[in-house]
Amino acid sequence: MLNPFDIVIFGGGGDLSLRKLLPAMYRAYQEGNLPEGTRIVPTVRALANEQEFIDKVQESLKSFLAKGEYNAKDWKAFSTFLKPMVVNVTEQDDNWLQLKELLESDADDKARVFYYSLPPAVYGRCSELLSDNQLITDTTRVVVEKPIGYCGASAEEINAKIAEYFKESQIYRIDHYLGKETVQNLMALRFSNVMFENMWDAKTIDNIQISISETVGLESRAGFYDKAGALRDMVQNHLLQLLCLVAMESPNKLTAKSIRTEKLKVLEALRPLVDADVEANTVRGQYVPGQLDDKLVPGYLEELGENSETETFVAIRAHIDNWRWSGVPFYLRTGKRMKKRCAEIIVEYKNVSHNVYDETVGGIEPNRLVIRLQPEESIQLTLMSKRLDNLEMQLEPVTLDLDLSKNYENGFHSDAYKRLMLDAASGNASLFIHRDEVRQAWAWIDPIINHWKTAGMPALYRAGTWGPDDADELLAENNHTWYNAG
Ligand code: BG6
Repeated sequence: MLNPFDIVIFGGGGDLSLRKLLPAMYRAYQEGNLPEGTRIVPTVRALANEQEFIDKVQESLKSFLAKGEYNAKDWKAFSTFLKPMVVNVTEQDDNWLQLKELLESDADDKARVFYYSLPPAVYGRCSELLSDNQLITDTTRVVVEKPIGYCGASAEEINAKIAEYFKESQIYRIDHYLGKETVQNLMALRFSNVMFENMWDAKTIDNIQISISETVGLESRAGFYDKAGALRDMVQNHLLQLLCLVAMESPNKLTAKSIRTEKLKVLEALRPLVDADVEANTVRGQYVPGQLDDKLVPGYLEELGENSETETFVAIRAHIDNWRWSGVPFYLRTGKRMKKRCAEIIVEYKNVSHNVYDETVGGIEPNRLVIRLQPEESIQLTLMSKRLDNLEMQLEPVTLDLDLSKNYENGFHSDAYKRLMLDAASGNASLFIHRDEVRQAWAWIDPIINHWKTAGMPALYRAGTWGPDDADELLAENNHTWYNAG
């Protein structure tokens, strides 16, 4: 069991905190993973009345927790962990002294987590104020939210600023995809099953697709999203992290250092896409009005209320230039307002080296492994089999279908933030991102962004579809097709 810790959530009244971070802590409490003596300190800019803020947290838990998770008894107990405070994260004032007093009222070696649920522009100043007020102890960790920067240079600047006050070992850069249990299962599948260990390279695999499709549109994030676009918002972090887990070599140990070293090697081996390569290997899209779940939804420009060339969809053909993956295309795809919400990794194997069956028994389809990360967690393996209801030899594809949630009597609630916040409190950095990974990911993304600056409008796709036709054509060039869920 974890020791008690203090977690200060800067930006504690913001959307992320109310939607994800505080519900995550409540779940930790319900599961018995929030030790007595832990203090959760959401900071806000102004607080007329502490009870008012606590009531607001209660309301948000009621609306953001899943059905059946909220109950008055647990809330009452959980609310005693909350110590809301006013802190101005860019100005020195007396509130910092109150925060200091609170934190120093407990043992010196109590783990202290500062969670920056703040715009990256103020990460540096907030770190400086923490340091000026001598709030950074040896057992302090800082959790930094994405996006770290809008390009390689701005990310470096932010990372350098934080590094003036915190050691790299104290900086926990979060990518919530790494906290998803199913994403961690990728490593478990690969590194604890000999059949995958031995069939995971260019000799056996033809191509790999990594796809995160969403049905939501802009939500209430127009200001942020229109500046970022899908490449920065999803590919630079979530998709590249999934790519790392799929493609990396086995770490020698399950330590943060070993895992990060292997992930970094994948990022370093990504073949750069520069100028004409960008044209040839990427597709940008933007949604226009369309039918989604039997409802007509507006297009991106209608939601935004102005003109924009921002992409809400990206498809990329990437290559990893190393011994294991030589010649294997990795197709990355993500988009808003697509037909279904789904995150999947699809591994398409090569065909058998010698086909003993002739055309009359039906063609042999290559094996396919589909690892679905959300919304349901499943693993499907498609194999060729003889039709058992036929005296003649006839082949057909059959699917081994494993629904992982069925392994648990009461299902399971995977909460990425809960896992990552508790990991930060216990000092386990293995699911967080090293500065070098951020740098390397941007080094691959920057030339794509630069090329796109003059590329004009993205290809249009109707909301409720799988993206623009250009994305299908990208795969057709290699005789491949997207595997579309359902
Ligand atoms: C966030 C992006 O990091 O991930 C959002 O900023 C996106 O635009 C979200 O909707 C998707 O996360 P999940 O866990 O719902 O797949």
